[in-house]
Amino acid sequence: MNLTRRHFLAASLIPAATQAFVSPNTTHPSDDSKLPPLDPDEPVEGPLFLKAGPMLGHVAHDRALIWVKASNASKLTVKVASGPAMQNARVISGPALTVDSAFAGVVEIPDLEPGRRYFYVVMLDGDAVTAPPAASFVTAPAPGLTGKVRFAFVSCSGYRGYMAAASWGEMAIRANFDVLLQLGDNHYANTTDLAKLRANYLNHRVVGGFRELTAKVPCVGVWDDHDFGPNDSDGTLPGKENSLRAFREAWANPSFGEDGNPGCYFQFTRGDVDFFMLDVRYHRSPDKAEKNASKTMLGAKQLEWLKRGVAASKARFKVIAGGSVIETGGPLDSWASYPDERRALLDALREYEGVIFVSGDRHFTAGYQIEGRWIEVTSGPLGSGNASCPPSPELWLSCSEGKMWSIFELDTSGAEPRLVYELWHAGSGLTERRELTWDQVNGRGKIPPSPPLPKVPAPKKAK
Ligand SMILES: [Fe+2]
Repeated sequence: MNLTRRHFLAASLIPAATQAFVSPNTTHPSDDSKLPPLDPDEPVEGPLFLKAGPMLGHVAHDRALIWVKASNASKLTVKVASGPAMQNARVISGPALTVDSAFAGVVEIPDLEPGRRYFYVVMLDGDAVTAPPAASFVTAPAPGLTGKVRFAFVSCSGYRGYMAAASWGEMAIRANFDVLLQLGDNHYANTTDLAKLRANYLNHRVVGGFRELTAKVPCVGVWDDHDFGPNDSDGTLPGKENSLRAFREAWANPSFGEDGNPGCYFQFTRGDVDFFMLDVRYHRSPDKAEKNASKTMLGAKQLEWLKRGVAASKARFKVIAGGSVIETGGPLDSWASYPDERRALLDALREYEGVIFVSGDRHFTAGYQIEGRWIEVTSGPLGSGNASCPPSPELWLSCSEGKMWSIFELDTSGAEPRLVYELWHAGSGLTERRELTWDQVNGRGKIPPSPPLPKVPAPKKAK
């Protein structure tokens, strides 16, 4: 997008009331002691209903995972059909939802066709608990099939679910991407206490826009520090098993770590794009530990899993997603504090084309061309307060104002793949669009910086 269009958007299209709506939230609490209290996550007596969900999790070319959280103990089943009238529906048996999982659970719908729309109705103890018309989703294209994949990525949702409500609401109305990646700080429980973790997940899952969006668009996630434990927490955190238990209850990801190596990392494929979702906390050395060859962010097994997966990937694009920024000038709580492992990873990736990094955590949105070679975009905040993006010679885009999410459109239908980056703002819509060449994606061409993104005036103080 050129300067004229951006300024037009900033100055002309956005009414004054909307400008205030997208203005930065200049306060970001260091704890939630002064915020409205969270509802405890407790069972509700009486007729069964969904406290949260249905949320589409991993949707592959041949199966779909659907997550729900029920009001009380019940048996989950889902009806699935190829049309909205639910004729000839299959009834898929899901798990018993029990107190052990705080009545959350995932049902897997098998035997689906690629690139097809399916309609579904959620039932608890045999009774429908989703209102008509039936929700629907589209399965992923077959692995290896060339074409267009649009994925959104978000982070820094805020201390309460309502803080990201404007973003979720607009994303739900537009629903203009195929899959959503939540890259951590998806809530701010800041604890390993299981009850508090569950209450925080629930608080973020009951927001109307989130429910509307994720009932129709697949959504997977990883954690960063605040939804793993306290700020900047790492693998030395006592009670991290509770964080993983709550995480597994709350997500319908395709897998969680590997056998013998716990964590939240996993891989999935959509068409000609492979996604590698990283766990940057469970095995992490402390940020302030001495920098040496054994200092790790991923842990040896996850690092080998990632290198092995990228080497085996036949997809034109390989998206590596995690909570910590990998740009060279990152802060203490980033890959910059792990120089040996970062170097080993980047060196191992150098021979592969189509590698792009996406990340979060920073409370601003920025695009980098790392060492002139790799694209990274860190996206946020979706609902948290804003921070200012520091200058960097690697920057090609930055925006420190408003509540934001990012979309990459990856198109492998032509002889040379195409990549388009989009920045979206709650209240303003599309505020930046950059098409990047295959040479730029692979470090053979420098990415010129975008002109400064429009500053949105801060709201006037009430008298
Ligand atoms: Fe974070």
